[in-house]
Amino acid sequence: MFLGNSSGLYSKISNFVALILLLMPLADKKIVLIVSGGIAAYKINYLVRGLVKKGSEVRVVLTPSARNFVSELTLSTLSKNPVLSEFYDAQGVWNNHVEIALWADAIVVAPCTANTLSKMVHGGCDNLALAVYMSAKCQVFIAPAMDLDMYSHPSTAQNIEIAESYGHSIIPAQYGELASGLIGQGRLEEPEKIIEHLESFFLRPRLVMDLAGKKVLITAGPTYEAIDPVRFIGNHSSGKMGFALARQAASRGAQVVLISGPTVLELEHPHVKVISVSSAREMQSEVFKYYDSVQIAIASAAVADYAPKVVADEKIKKSEDTMLIELVKNPDILMEMGQKKKEQFLVGFALETQDEVKNAQSKLVRKNLDLIVLNSLRDQGAGFKEDTNKIRLLSGDKQIEFDLKSKDEVAKDIFDFILTRLPS
Ligand code: PMT
Repeated sequence: MFLGNSSGLYSKISNFVALILLLMPLADKKIVLIVSGGIAAYKINYLVRGLVKKGSEVRVVLTPSARNFVSELTLSTLSKNPVLSEFYDAQGVWNNHVEIALWADAIVVAPCTANTLSKMVHGGCDNLALAVYMSAKCQVFIAPAMDLDMYSHPSTAQNIEIAESYGHSIIPAQYGELASGLIGQGRLEEPEKIIEHLESFFLRPRLVMDLAGKKVLITAGPTYEAIDPVRFIGNHSSGKMGFALARQAASRGAQVVLISGPTVLELEHPHVKVISVSSAREMQSEVFKYYDSVQIAIASAAVADYAPKVVADEKIKKSEDTMLIELVKNPDILMEMGQKKKEQFLVGFALETQDEVKNAQSKLVRKNLDLIVLNSLRDQGAGFKEDTNKIRLLSGDKQIEFDLKSKDEVAKDIFDFILTRLPS
């Protein structure tokens, strides 16, 4: 959101806007407040007042029974908008529930009675407020309020769970003295706390799900090529770059298969299947189980180019002053992916120490890639083991160079670029 110096005035304006958003997360937010019929509705005047003071625009919708608990004149004066409760107003004009719902950046149901909660989660739609709720595409906040036994009843608990499973945010009822005179949990959360819930929601960075529906295959880490049962030929790859790519893709909605050589890293995410391998041949065999079914494939693994021709069954004993190990070429997995490519967007990495661009360019063409990510060991903070990397993207005749960044940010840049090249 914050731009660099080069963008001048535009940069200053967007920094200012970003600052305002940070300080006033509810400024210009459109809030529909649904009020249902419980005694706690008396607090709603304060909620409306608080939201308006924070810069929000508020429209109040009442359930029929809420009209017994509040003053419509007070609420419309505080919200500066007519208060709605019927499908048609006194002049017979239709109150379009779809328009009201789609207008909202958030819907708050407060107080939410047991009856309204039950109807909300089970599809009841016998009043304007419920029709607005059912038409909503924005985040819904539910602040229940009822007597303690109603609140602790299993049906209420279950309805709250169902509401959560729909992705709604529950603002739990509080403990204290209730209208019945009993003491327990069931009080409507205080208006200023409800406002805090809304503020923290609008402050949270929005998740971008621009890889939803895509399947992504990623190779990561080193490969170990066994010499004998205790020794191997390997390299310094930690797997950090590949794991960052997998995290990034999954957080943007993709289904990810992450095939990794030996690493201490772990990744638990419902969208990521981690497959652990050791040698290049094992990696090759796993890659081609999934390759045909993915839309994006990224080879960030540091695959050993050679492996011992013979792997000793027993530990090799120390004897001569010198020892020769005959190596044979490993399969080039990425080259094979390029040859078998159909619809996949294929991304390779190039780790270079000299003639970086020339070598990367040659791999891009030779391996039939759509994009190659060049990192050079000559750049400080780039390459193996670091938490950072410095990359240059090469695709066709386009080249983009990036600053040194965390591997998570590098992964973001890579997917942002890929998305510019994918058919929508
Ligand atoms: O794991 P980290 O510690 O975070 O380090 C990240 C990294 C430096 C390993 C990563 O950023 C990186 O550069 N990975 C590629 C390393 C490499 O093997 O580069 P290469 O130029 O030798 O290979 C070119 C491409 O062919 C790579 O995509 C590689 O995965 C692939 N390849 C290479 C050889 C082989 N036999 N099979 C392959 O698939």
